[in-house]
Amino acid sequence: MAFDVDSYASSAHRLRWDDLELDRFRTDRLSDGALRCLRYMSDVETHTVCYLRDLLVTPSHRDPEVTTFLTLWNYEEYWHGEVLDRVLEMHGVPTGPEHTHALRTRLGWQDRVAPMVQSTLANVIGPDFIATHMTWGAINEWCTHAGYSRFVKVEQNPLLTEILQRIAKQETRHIAFYNSQARRRLAESPRARRITRFALRHRWGIVGSGVMPEPEIRHLLNYLFGGTDGLAEARRIDAKIDTLPGLDGLHLVERELTRHGLR
Ligand SMILES: [Fe+2]
Ligand SMILES: [Fe+2]
Repeated sequence: MAFDVDSYASSAHRLRWDDLELDRFRTDRLSDGALRCLRYMSDVETHTVCYLRDLLVTPSHRDPEVTTFLTLWNYEEYWHGEVLDRVLEMHGVPTGPEHTHALRTRLGWQDRVAPMVQSTLANVIGPDFIATHMTWGAINEWCTHAGYSRFVKVEQNPLLTEILQRIAKQETRHIAFYNSQARRRLAESPRARRITRFALRHRWGIVGSGVMPEPEIRHLLNYLFGGTDGLAEARRIDAKIDTLPGLDGLHLVERELTRHGLR
C-alpha cells in the first residue's frame, strides 16, 4: 500500500470546471438545505491553509515526504473551496475574501493560541505525533469523501454531481496518502497507537466542527447522514477506522451523530 509522493506531487492539479455551465444553477437552483451544506463545505475546504499552519509547528514538518504531500494537498483543497464558492455565487450567496476574513476573525483568541498549544503538545510527544496527525488526516478524508458521495445521492442534481465527483476523485488520493502513512506508523509504534487512540477518543470531532457554529454542524450531519442510509454510511466509515492498528471499536462518526443530537 505504498504511496508514491513524487508522482502525486507532479500530478496534483487545480480542479477544472471551465467546461461546465455553472450558469445553469441560476434557473435550476439547488435546495436551501444543499446550499447551507455547500457553505459549510466551502468554508472548511478554504480553511485548509489554517489547519496547515497548525501542523507545520509540529514534528510533522521534519518529514520531507509529509511536507511535500501537504504542500500539494493544500493547493488542491484551495480549489475545492473555490469551485464550491462559484456554485454559491450563482445562487446569490456572498463569498470571497470578506466572508473568509469574517470567519477567521470569529474564531477569536482560541485560534490565535492554537499553534502554540499544538506545537507544545506535539513536540513533547515527539515523532509519534506524526502517526496521530496522519490518522486524523485519514479519518477526515474518509469523512469528506463520504460526505460528498452522500451529497450526490441526497440532492440528485446532475451538474452538482459532476462537480462533487471531480472533488471526490482528488479526495481519494488524499485518503491513499494518509491511510498508508497512518497504517505504517501505527503498526510500528505501540506508543503512537496509545496516543492516537487517546487523542481521537477525547478530541476528535466531525470535519469542520472546530470552526463551524453548532447549528451548521447539526444541519450538515442531518442533511448528509440523517436517515437509515446516512447512518449506514457513518458506520461504514467507523468500520474503516476499526481496521487501523490499535483503533478498533471507537465508533467516532456514530458518536458525533449522537453528540449533535441526531440519534
Ligand atoms: Fe477537499
Ligand atoms: Fe482532501
